[in-house]
Amino acid sequence: MHSALFLLPLAFRSAAAIYYPVREYSGDTFFDSWSFYDNVDDTTWGNVTFVGEATANSTQLISVNSAGNAIIRVDDTDMVAAATLIHRNSVRITSQDMYGVGSVIVADFVHLPYGCSVWPSFWLLGQGLWPNAGEVDIIEGINLADANQFSMHTTAGCTQPANVTQTGRTTVTNCLDVSGTNNNGCITVATEPNSLGEGFATAGGGVYAVQMDVNGIYLWFWSRSDIPKSISGSTATSTLDVSDWGTPSAAYPATTCNITEFFQPQQMILDITLCGLWAGVPSIYAQTCPGTCIDNIIGNGSVYANAYFEIPYIRTYSLTQQNAAETTNSTTGGNGSGASDSKSGSPGNSSQSGSTPGPSGTSAADALSVSWRQVALLAGFLLALVHAI
Ligand SMILES: *[C@@H]1O[C@H](CO)[C@@H](O)[C@H](O)[C@H]1NC(C)=O
Ligand SMILES: *[C@@H]1O[C@H](CO)[C@@H](O)[C@H](O)[C@H]1NC(C)=O
Ligand SMILES: *[C@@H]1O[C@H](CO)[C@@H](O)[C@H](O)[C@H]1NC(C)=O
Ligand SMILES: *[C@@H]1O[C@H](CO)[C@@H](O)[C@H](O)[C@H]1NC(C)=O
Ligand SMILES: *[C@@H]1O[C@H](CO)[C@@H](O)[C@H](O)[C@H]1NC(C)=O
Ligand SMILES: *[C@@H]1O[C@H](CO)[C@@H](O)[C@H](O)[C@H]1NC(C)=O
Ligand SMILES: *[C@@H]1O[C@H](CO)[C@@H](O)[C@H](O)[C@H]1NC(C)=O
Ligand SMILES: *[C@@H]1O[C@H](CO)[C@@H](O)[C@H](O)[C@H]1NC(C)=O
Repeated sequence: MHSALFLLPLAFRSAAAIYYPVREYSGDTFFDSWSFYDNVDDTTWGNVTFVGEATANSTQLISVNSAGNAIIRVDDTDMVAAATLIHRNSVRITSQDMYGVGSVIVADFVHLPYGCSVWPSFWLLGQGLWPNAGEVDIIEGINLADANQFSMHTTAGCTQPANVTQTGRTTVTNCLDVSGTNNNGCITVATEPNSLGEGFATAGGGVYAVQMDVNGIYLWFWSRSDIPKSISGSTATSTLDVSDWGTPSAAYPATTCNITEFFQPQQMILDITLCGLWAGVPSIYAQTCPGTCIDNIIGNGSVYANAYFEIPYIRTYSLTQQNAAETTNSTTGGNGSGASDSKSGSPGNSSQSGSTPGPSGTSAADALSVSWRQVALLAGFLLALVHAI
């Protein structure tokens, strides 16, 4: 009881802060500062090819609709034949800007991708060998699941404490959970209604937000009618006072996870894969869907009518006031001071291929083989470098 009472003010101390706008991703300029993955899904091993920008644009996998909302979808018109290697086109984009401790991200969605075999993610990933720079999964859901799964992945030593003040239900507390057959990350399942799927869309969507603070990483989901005034009343250029945000859906306080140690500046990623290491595991797939996962992909694609994000905006904020014109390419991040541009690093997708946003169902063997593959790639690269010299 004492500890619970003690944790309350701690958990909310960071929430009483004013944040300054860094940038808004929206409308006709939504896609301007992202990199398109342009490769197969070599991290969660779904049956998709993430196409480049030109193809995504010309085949309408990305667009801006008449409401001014950005659309990102899985191909739902191509005829895919039963073959030895089945892939359908999809999109994975990575923000060119990075956001460090001291940042807040607010993302408004009207629709999230759903359907049997569909696995959408909106997540944050630090650069380098996974999971050394940390990963935060803000939105993740599979098939017809109706509750969002928040999670984090780190190196050993970051956990979620017991009796944390959050509305969500914790299922895994260790952010590097390699004890059993899974490498899940530390998982909290949303308990607010309509956080995913058809329910999310019917309710008019909602807002997801993350606060990366030195005192903890906190995540929120609000259905459309519950969005706090500080967000519903804000514009792209207003400051943000997060003091009306209430209890987070998921909370990872620094008391058992040194945030600045485990999390380097993060890039945002939006992607939709099909089947793969989580959605496609037969026993997991069968929990909400009939038949086999791959069967959905074969055919004319009409089953993917709902496999799309519709995004009015993603807004990013920093504790430090920055000139908006300067912030996009500034390098102020990495010290807990907010945003920075990834170009000073190198966001290339090879450096991310060890990442696994997938929680449940990612077997330790899979996760390890992914990491070892990364090590092998790196070793090959170093060898090539030595030879070149
Ligand atoms: C998509 O193509 C149109 C027409 O060529 C072009 O105006 C637009 O900038 C492109 N959008 C993206 C995000 O590439
Ligand atoms: C699905 O994709 C994975 C990863 O690319 C691949 O290993 C597997 O063979 C594919 N399955 C089918 C039936 O094509
Ligand atoms: C958590 O709360 C439960 C129920 O109130 C209590 O029994 C337990 O001792 C608490 N654990 C910690 C670590 O405070
Ligand atoms: C947290 O990690 C940072 C960076 O590694 C370190 O400087 C700091 O002392 C750590 N804080 C605590 C409380 O261990
Ligand atoms: C696509 O296939 C489904 C199921 O096989 C069928 O019901 C539907 O009519 C087809 N749609 C089109 C546009 O051909
Ligand atoms: C940031 O850098 C990119 C490429 O290096 C450039 O295209 C873009 O215009 C720059 N943005 C600002 C706001 O300076
Ligand atoms: C980080 O902080 C150190 C010490 O305060 C400073 O020397 C360094 O320039 C800062 N780095 C960035 C990227 O702001
Ligand atoms: C991703 O990797 C593929 C294959 O290695 C490469 O062709 C593509 O240019 C890369 N995309 C980005 C955004 O780096």
